[in-house]
Amino acid sequence: MTSPFVTAPTLADDKKTYGRLELNLVRNRKQDHTALLDQAAASFDYARCRDSYWNPEPFSLCYGTPIWDQASPSQRVILNQLYWVAYYSQIISAEVATIFFNQTSAAGLYAVEDFRIVCDTLDLESMQERAHINAFKKISDETEHALFGKRIFSYAMRGPYDETMVHGDTDRLRAAWKQLQLRTFGMLSSGNAFIACQYFTVRGLRTLNGKIVQHQLSHFYARHPDQANAPVPSAVSYYHFQDESYHFNSSMLISKDVLGSLAPPTPFERMVANLALRGCQKDHFHFSAAINGIFWYDPSVYAAVLEVLMSKHFGLDRRGALELMERSFCHETDGAVASRDTHTTARESYKKYLDDGLGYVSRANREMAVMSKSTLEGHLAANRAAMRSFAAAA
Ligand SMILES: [Fe+2]
Ligand SMILES: [Fe+2]
Repeated sequence: MTSPFVTAPTLADDKKTYGRLELNLVRNRKQDHTALLDQAAASFDYARCRDSYWNPEPFSLCYGTPIWDQASPSQRVILNQLYWVAYYSQIISAEVATIFFNQTSAAGLYAVEDFRIVCDTLDLESMQERAHINAFKKISDETEHALFGKRIFSYAMRGPYDETMVHGDTDRLRAAWKQLQLRTFGMLSSGNAFIACQYFTVRGLRTLNGKIVQHQLSHFYARHPDQANAPVPSAVSYYHFQDESYHFNSSMLISKDVLGSLAPPTPFERMVANLALRGCQKDHFHFSAAINGIFWYDPSVYAAVLEVLMSKHFGLDRRGALELMERSFCHETDGAVASRDTHTTARESYKKYLDDGLGYVSRANREMAVMSKSTLEGHLAANRAAMRSFAAAA
């Protein structure tokens, strides 16, 4: 494969890494869950799984808060299903961005001799992400349509420059600045192999966060006594987790092992890569009592939760709903503690990821200095302040 004109060692000469890349691609092609996901999406019928949980119980909206504690069994089923909808609505946004940066990074990496295998891997993954998004979107849209007749957590199709965090701590100015950063990163990664390669460190961290939760979501189907009749969304969680384990593997291989086949970074390249990691820390700063495992900013979820509580399924009036939300979001609850613990687990696993062979990473990123500042006290203070203005405006 290597041209006779090329005398310097290339990726193909790093036999160990090249072999692992090949194995990952061959196995992912063989076990590709695209057809199963397409089938599951096509067969989804809300009426057929409306009465059952779709996730293990702790993965329910507002689990461990008074909203959950006082919900009836049928309301709990809805909270469990809404967790699925909210969770995968966030994954849709993350994967729309992933498809784009897979493509810009593949463009940047294809400029290096013998990098075809990396690009082929990314092409397969992008195609899989479209199947993932299709399944998440079809189920989320139909579920919310059946339950509420309108969108609560789902949204119309979006592009890669929209805020990746669907319910983050942002405003118009910050969203515009973020959009500019995303555009710049896309442009830089498409023409710079180091920056392209190090996109996969960011993707690796994000996938690691997904892995922590999605592994547990996949258990519902994996341990279901009657898989053929298990609710379709639980099968989607399981199939998706299988595909994603290959994606996580390739993030690790590209960001760490493939890096050895590239020239050491210039100061500019180090800066851009560290800024991207810092951006990831900022995106993952908050944790949410509404949804354990997604680092949403609770105040920006308030409006959605209010809608749910005031819907016919919960039947609360505005005052009752706001009072219940105050008790659920503004005080220490088992739910908030569990979400904080998931945040800590994620942060510690990010540290481990960065600790291993990535010499250019700054100390502030290596120690997850931004994420480390996120505390339960800070979370409650932010929720309380926002609740006062939300209740006054609602
Ligand atoms: Fe995916
Ligand atoms: Fe993925």
